[in-house]
Amino acid sequence: FSAFLTDSFGRQHSYLRISLTEKCNLRCQYCMPEEGVPLTPKADLLTTEEILTLARLFVKEGVDKIRLTGGEPLIRPDVVDIVAQLHRLEGLRTIGITTNGINLARLLPQLQKAGLSAINISLDTLVPAKFEFIVRRKGFHKVMEGIHKAIELGYSPVKVNCVVMRGLNEDELLNFVALTKGLPLDVRFIEYMPFDGNKWNFKKMVSYKEMLDTLQQQWPELEKLPEEESSTAKAFKIPGFRGQVSFITSMSEHFCGTCNRLRITADGNLKVCLFGSSEVSLRDHLRAGASEEELLRIIGAAVGRKKRQHAELPLMLQDSPPAIPSISSQHPFH
Ligand code: GTP
Ligand code: 5AD
Ligand code: SF4
Repeated sequence: FSAFLTDSFGRQHSYLRISLTEKCNLRCQYCMPEEGVPLTPKADLLTTEEILTLARLFVKEGVDKIRLTGGEPLIRPDVVDIVAQLHRLEGLRTIGITTNGINLARLLPQLQKAGLSAINISLDTLVPAKFEFIVRRKGFHKVMEGIHKAIELGYSPVKVNCVVMRGLNEDELLNFVALTKGLPLDVRFIEYMPFDGNKWNFKKMVSYKEMLDTLQQQWPELEKLPEEESSTAKAFKIPGFRGQVSFITSMSEHFCGTCNRLRITADGNLKVCLFGSSEVSLRDHLRAGASEEELLRIIGAAVGRKKRQHAELPLMLQDSPPAIPSISSQHPFH
């Protein structure tokens, strides 16, 4: 495995997340304010060609999984073309997308033909009116249509990301689990995480233990599945159900130790951690004509500086103020 993508703790970064756009057609309360986020001028965003140049380089060094994120990746007009071109990269085994599902039913047939192999869809409620409250837009039925289209086209499992917030949707856990009875879904309950301006507070977070407890009361036969390497999720299954349920325990049991992810933001910064501001502009180096070797050296240096775990973590785990660290980054979770 490439030394450039291996950090000083021996973690090999084989999973690259590329943000295709900062824009989003929803306004989820936990992610951005009603008015949206400030957008980078178009000229400063990575072009499709630049995205592919970088992807090619990372894949050559050992990245075998790329996830396209946003904002909302499906609003980038050339997303199908990007998937098709990524699909030609030898060594790339998985091309995933994390989407809010609004445009999914319409685009999925083309995306699948282009080579899209995995789909994660954000959905925090099964109640249409609550959906509109959480995401501040309409579209519940479109998202459901997207989920069903993904199942119909054979994606298995289709992952559904549900950020659990106390007082908002914690009462829906069992309904979400019930969906996995007949559908090949992996419903993933995510611990609500703080970042600048998302009005997080410790009391709104429902912990993994608490969620697990709720599920076990209803289904004592709930069975833990073997851990997948470098996965963010702990998976469970109710015997006889078609799908599964998982927990993403970013707050209560972080997974920094097995982290294999790198991120490229829409404006071309390399981020070695979801948190933390240490970013290096690959775009600027690309545009200044850096050679492949120079780029690799720059990437290798950034990966080499990756910390064992993110610095905000101890802060976040305090349950008394100041519990909210200043993580200011657009769509940090994407
Ligand atoms: P898979 O590739 O299917 O395993 O999905 P994923 O979990 O890597 O990605 P997804 O985009 O579906 O993100 C789901 C949740 O995982 C997010 O809400 C985050 O809470 C969490 N997550 C994703 N990447 C990271 C990371 O690098 N660090 C931490 N702490 N959490 C992450
Ligand atoms: N805490 C946890 N997960 C979040 N996501 C967005 N904001 C937060 C947050 N504050 C999730 C979205 C999406 C995934 C990439 O990140 O639901 O599915
Ligand atoms: Fe858009 Fe995703 Fe943020 Fe919701 S969480 S506003 S879908 S970018």
